[in-house]
Amino acid sequence: MDEATSSAAGDKRHASDPIAYINGKLHKLPLGRAEITLLAYLRELGLTGTKLGCGEGGCGACTVMVSSWEDGQLWHCSINACLAPLYSVEGMHVVTVEGIGNTRAGLHPVQERLARAHGSQCGFCTPGFVMSMYALLRSRPQPPSEQDIEENLAGNLCRCTGYRPILDAFKGAPCLANRSARGNADGAGGGAACVSGDGCKAGGCPPRGGNMVCPSTGLPCGCGAGTAPCTRPGPGGAGEADGEGEAVVVSSSADKLAMGGSAAYTRPSAEPIFPAALRGRTPPPLCLPGPAATWHRPTTLAALLALKRAHPELRIVGGNTEVGIEVKFKAARYRHLAAPSHIPELNRMEVTDTALVVGAAVTLSRLQTRLRELVAAGAPHETGVFAALLEQLRYFAGVQIRNVATIGGNIVTGSPISDINPLYMAAGSTFTIAAEGAPDRKVAAADFFLAYRRVALELHEVLSAVSIPFTRRHEYVREFKQAHRRDDDIAIVNAGMRARMRRTLAGDWKADEVALAFGGVAPITVMAPQAAAALVGRPWVEETLRAAVAALARDIVIAPDAPGGMVEYRRSLAASFLFRFFVDVALRLEAEEPSFKLPLPPSFASAAARFERPPARGLQYYARAGQDAVVGAPHRHLAADIQDAVVGAPHRHLAADIQVTGEAMYTDDMPHVAGLLHAALVKSARPHARILSLDTSLAQQVPRVVGFFGAGDVPGSNMIGPVLHDEELFATRQVTCVGQMLGVVVAESEAAARDGAALVAVTYADLPAIMSIDDAVAAGSFYEGQGHTIECGNVDDAWAGCAHVIDGTARVGGQEHFYLEPNCSLVVPGEAGEVTVISSTQGPAKNQNMVAHVLGLPAHKVFCKIKRLGGGFGGKETRSVPISCAAAVPAWHLRRPVRLALDRDEDMQTTGHRHAFMATYKVGFTAEGKVLALQLDMYSNAGNSLDLSTSIMDRALVHCDCAYKITNVRVVGHVCRTNQASNTAFRGFGGPQAMIVAEMWVDQIARTLGRPPEAVRELNFYREGDSTHFGQVLEGCQVQRCWDLALRSAGGLAQRRAAAAAFNAGSRFRKRGLAAVPTKFGISFTTKFLNQAGALVHIYTDGTVLLTHGGVEMGQGLHTKVAQVAAAALGLPLDAVYIAETATDKVPNASPTAASASSDMYGAAVADACRQLNERLEPFRARLPGTAFKEIVSAAYLERVDLSAHGFYATPNITGFGGAKPFNYFCYGAALSEVELDTLTGDWHLLRTDLAMDVGDSLNPAIDIGQVEGGFVQGMGWCCLEELVWGDAAHPWVAPGTLHTRGPGTYKIPTVNDIPLDLRVTLLRDAPCAKTPLVHSSKAVGEPPLFLGASVFFALKEAVYAARAEASLPGWFRMDAPATPERLRMACADELTAPFASSAASCKGSF
Ligand SMILES: Cc1cc2nc3c(=O)[nH]c(=O)nc-3n(C[C@H](O)[C@H](O)[C@H](O)COP(=O)(O)OP(=O)(O)OC[C@H]3O[C@@H](n4cnc5c(N)ncnc54)[C@H](O)[C@@H]3O)c2cc1C
Ligand code: FES
Ligand code: FES
Repeated sequence: MDEATSSAAGDKRHASDPIAYINGKLHKLPLGRAEITLLAYLRELGLTGTKLGCGEGGCGACTVMVSSWEDGQLWHCSINACLAPLYSVEGMHVVTVEGIGNTRAGLHPVQERLARAHGSQCGFCTPGFVMSMYALLRSRPQPPSEQDIEENLAGNLCRCTGYRPILDAFKGAPCLANRSARGNADGAGGGAACVSGDGCKAGGCPPRGGNMVCPSTGLPCGCGAGTAPCTRPGPGGAGEADGEGEAVVVSSSADKLAMGGSAAYTRPSAEPIFPAALRGRTPPPLCLPGPAATWHRPTTLAALLALKRAHPELRIVGGNTEVGIEVKFKAARYRHLAAPSHIPELNRMEVTDTALVVGAAVTLSRLQTRLRELVAAGAPHETGVFAALLEQLRYFAGVQIRNVATIGGNIVTGSPISDINPLYMAAGSTFTIAAEGAPDRKVAAADFFLAYRRVALELHEVLSAVSIPFTRRHEYVREFKQAHRRDDDIAIVNAGMRARMRRTLAGDWKADEVALAFGGVAPITVMAPQAAAALVGRPWVEETLRAAVAALARDIVIAPDAPGGMVEYRRSLAASFLFRFFVDVALRLEAEEPSFKLPLPPSFASAAARFERPPARGLQYYARAGQDAVVGAPHRHLAADIQDAVVGAPHRHLAADIQVTGEAMYTDDMPHVAGLLHAALVKSARPHARILSLDTSLAQQVPRVVGFFGAGDVPGSNMIGPVLHDEELFATRQVTCVGQMLGVVVAESEAAARDGAALVAVTYADLPAIMSIDDAVAAGSFYEGQGHTIECGNVDDAWAGCAHVIDGTARVGGQEHFYLEPNCSLVVPGEAGEVTVISSTQGPAKNQNMVAHVLGLPAHKVFCKIKRLGGGFGGKETRSVPISCAAAVPAWHLRRPVRLALDRDEDMQTTGHRHAFMATYKVGFTAEGKVLALQLDMYSNAGNSLDLSTSIMDRALVHCDCAYKITNVRVVGHVCRTNQASNTAFRGFGGPQAMIVAEMWVDQIARTLGRPPEAVRELNFYREGDSTHFGQVLEGCQVQRCWDLALRSAGGLAQRRAAAAAFNAGSRFRKRGLAAVPTKFGISFTTKFLNQAGALVHIYTDGTVLLTHGGVEMGQGLHTKVAQVAAAALGLPLDAVYIAETATDKVPNASPTAASASSDMYGAAVADACRQLNERLEPFRARLPGTAFKEIVSAAYLERVDLSAHGFYATPNITGFGGAKPFNYFCYGAALSEVELDTLTGDWHLLRTDLAMDVGDSLNPAIDIGQVEGGFVQGMGWCCLEELVWGDAAHPWVAPGTLHTRGPGTYKIPTVNDIPLDLRVTLLRDAPCAKTPLVHSSKAVGEPPLFLGASVFFALKEAVYAARAEASLPGWFRMDAPATPERLRMACADELTAPFASSAASCKGSF
């Protein structure tokens, strides 16, 4: 029997012994498990360093490297283990983060660099970054360039760091590159490659710092000038504002190696080597049957075609990046799966006389490589399509996806937003289709797409190849794509366009062929025939362009309720792309044919310009620890005593090493205990409805399901909530949001639990739903009594004295926390009714109390523990509690441990967000812009339960002044009850929403007066001794100082403004804008009693210290700072102090880790405990002078001295909200940002940000800078990128009440390529905080910097003002936040948007 016949018949010869190597070790893959992913398998093996962040290929947390031997060559690439079917790696070597280094054998240099450069905060993303970088190094014979590194990391998300330290860690690392270049010799003894200085010399590495040493000064700098004198100011470079001149440490992107820790690398002795057994192994055909599906791996096309004939429903699985999503999110189930990866006919790439022929199983990465070769080698006029394809592929998903996704998968999916199909269509490509027993047939790409995700392919047919033609002389092709986010995002609209120009006898240039194809504007990719016809045979002049744009509006018509919404924007984008193409063709023709001239003003050339993103750079300035000034010295020049200083030195995060190696344990990494059950949520599908029936009978029949648990099973109270018990744990009669819990299905496996939960049948009677603030206001739906009022001065009388009074409405959207680790709880019942809860929570005591409440237990029987969180940002303060409670109920009944881990989409739909705000304001001010009176009503979208919304609104009320002194204020809060999932705490806790509203009206004042906005801002700044509108007197006000530092940047603001104006004058469609904002943020919980903290310090007889405190480590470096305080207090080195976990049985009644106050409070509590211990040890110190701590402790022990102390701290002299001193102190800061905006699309780049932050006397500058940068980027994401889209009146195409944006595929947080190209951060020097002597006069840092991201929003608005001025639209306009590409493009109203929307129209949003 040949392979075709045997595999179609399911020949058992192919059923045995699938193998793979994992970290060098042979694994026989388990049989019968075609449905599981590589990630699931790795985690089953206990390799939990590879994380599940999203399960949809969008976050990179699951990145591993796979190596394979193909055609006599070794290939290495990064892939997303969460999408890779287990059997897809058969015969390959899988390397996980555990495989390259660990804390016992030594860290791999990639790991070590990341740890040293402070590139790991919560650490959940970290293994993914490590493996992406590692795979990049292994996959290239040459060291990657900085651009390569940035592009390579686009598929990895980090929510904590702001990426700059990750880039710093990986760039400028010739040693690493060399090591890996040699490591590529795998198997030929490739283990002992270069890892540090010695090896580098042998390998010819340039000295550390390489070309990033400033040629002017010889010091490392961020200018990248190489050999020329320093043009971009850097430390020691010309004209730099040097972070206040003296006594600062300057750290550049180029030099992070010596930060903290020892100078030498530890290192493992060997790289994982490609197993010899796999070399030269001929991969066998596979047929692996199983209960859920059979996995086939034919090795000939004939065998695949035979399989297709035998099983027409068989799914070909290329990269599984579509099929995997269908299976996970659309409950698709396929009985037969076939991998085309080993079929030579489908993996070929051939160049013929007329075309490049690409097999359908070729991956996008391999296609990219081939296209690069062809473009480099061929004549430019012949490779026009290839160049366009390359550009398009650059922004197609992330590297991990491109490494596996096939061109066949992309085409056959028939997605209307496929990025490549428009180019195939415009280029005139053809597809070859094969079927058993039939000759190949060819179909033009333009005829292949029939209807939404339906293509011209019969069930038994296979796409075998794509033929992409060469271009000819004067034939121009261009690609277009606009997405919500530039990198790793699917298109909103994309296009491929081609025109061939001919010179007529009359000397005119006319197009004789035009093809225009668009994606994202219809259910399939479409051609625009009328627009094309309008361009053909006509002179390439403005009039022709106008006719074509008008014709395009007839070609592309999108129904108002079309899926995806954004109708006006999408039509405007299509028109803008066409305009851009017209200009591009004209410019290229002009360059080639002097007889042709651009038929438009020269400034219109900017329409066709591409932004080439240079590598990002960073500089950080902070005061050095110790007394002597070090001017402009990077870390590596720090004296040893400074490096060793316990307080004030840039110590790396205590868990950095175990985070970079994947050894750090998160809740879901705990080894599975015996008898473990898995729970899955049964969730409401309606936003507001009566529950008519709930039938669990089908669920109960699913094999391995143990039972359903709902409200009737709750042994204690079903009513829960952090402040009011106003929400049901499991809904009883009514549901009030989509995603609300109705119960849980519990099973022996997670898959069975999820299958069971999906089969619970619920019937509803719908009730009217309130989704937005506007809905709530219209219906009078408020949490009565929860919105407070603050009044000072006399607003009503003040208006008369104002030269101007303005009013308006401001809106700002919510924000998803997008912590990389989704919520997870593990509940373990113990003896005598004890219950242990291991939860990914910021509020262990809240978990303890509420689980006790739900189970009807006393609190002393419930223990909650947590080692660390993979990010929290407020999202796990209260909303983690229902998860623990839901797992606790079945655990209680079944007396077995129950684990409940949310999928990313469940987490996003059900656990709440930052509140969206709406505000109406009236502001009176003088002719200069001094604000005299403010009347403000703020409305928050609180969702379906109160949660913390009262306190969040309270914080908004006390931050509505931003940093401005206003004498007469009346501000009223309204907390809206809606049918969104309960919104909750998020970094800043209502403060940023109020502050951005303030900046919106400040902007309006400036435009009203025609004054620069920063002049208005500065005029209104608080000064020392001023009192706020709630009566708190400012002591140590640093706002002006931060402002001056941020603005005293390269040549000063005025000069940079002038440069931007000059740029704008010559550029009609790319505009630059600069803006600065200040911040002032109050530190303390506004609920007074929460401002208390406890800590427990044990000293052991060997002189080491175990410290426990009530705070939770979630990446913010809390444990590191608190350990620093303890070490300093006891006079010990930092490594003598260890913090194992946070636990309610060690420190009781702890407030949640929130409000940025934890370092202050727990540091002070620890200081109190250490004070007691020092007092007890003092007699022994006196008796044994000069003796080591260990000896002193031993002596004390022998004399029966208690070596354990409980410390306590209650923030003194604060009033809580409602009094005149709700805050212990304020933090201040300022940031200046400059952007460049593409006004035709709304795409933008952040050119530079200068940021100054007041953190008091920093306990740990590295951690503080990490918080500042991470907060800034998160704030920028909130203001400018991240948009929550709900099924509401503005989005009728989304199911009512459903969150559309519930995964990284639809919700876009910043990537590495969104951060400032040049980021300069200064920590204020000589600014000790008088209120925090116990924590060395340091200040809080978690929340205050977030608002500075708003500088980017206002810089973008400045760029829009510049565009509108040229379109004769001067003056203020309203722009809601976030400044999505849609809002930006539509605000840049021009002739292209005019047919679709008025210049005053504001875009829809879920507020
Ligand atoms: C995180 C992420 C980001 C993405 N970003 C983008 C993006 O930026 N732009 C974009 O356009 N797409 C994007 N996609 C979509 C997807 O990655 C691409 O469409 C990809 O090319 C699909 O290829 P695949 O091999 O993974 O397809 P698979 O999932 O393996 O297959 C898809 C479909 O094609 C069929 N098929 C595959 N090969 C053949 C064949 N030879 N003959 C017949 N049928 C076949 C399969 O049976 C299946 O029905 C993204 C997806 C993810 C998960
Ligand atoms: S978990 Fe795989 S990409 Fe997010
Ligand atoms: S450190 Fe990257 S997500 Fe936390």
